[in-house]
Amino acid sequence: MIVCLCKGLSERALQEVIGEGRCTVEAVGRACGGGTDCGSCQGAIGELIHEARLLACAREAVAETGRQLRDVGAPSSPSREAGHEGQRPSH
Ligand code: FES
Repeated sequence: MIVCLCKGLSERALQEVIGEGRCTVEAVGRACGGGTDCGSCQGAIGELIHEARLLACAREAVAETGRQLRDVGAPSSPSREAGHEGQRPSH
């Protein structure tokens, strides 16, 4: 989907620029020109930056949880332990 019509920049292209470490609308604009013409896409670029931050935080939280589980010796996926696959709890 095209986000910046003036520069013909897709959501994917902007996500790549953001993923390279640009974390402000201005920085994205300097890198690829997105948002630097009419400016009507700046809100959408800001949302993409926000989404990227949330995704990075979520990934870090998952990684940290994995580290904590390893530290306490917990299985990473209890439902996949040998002998438990496909079993349902009995009531
Ligand atoms: S639509 Fe992006 S600068 Fe105009």
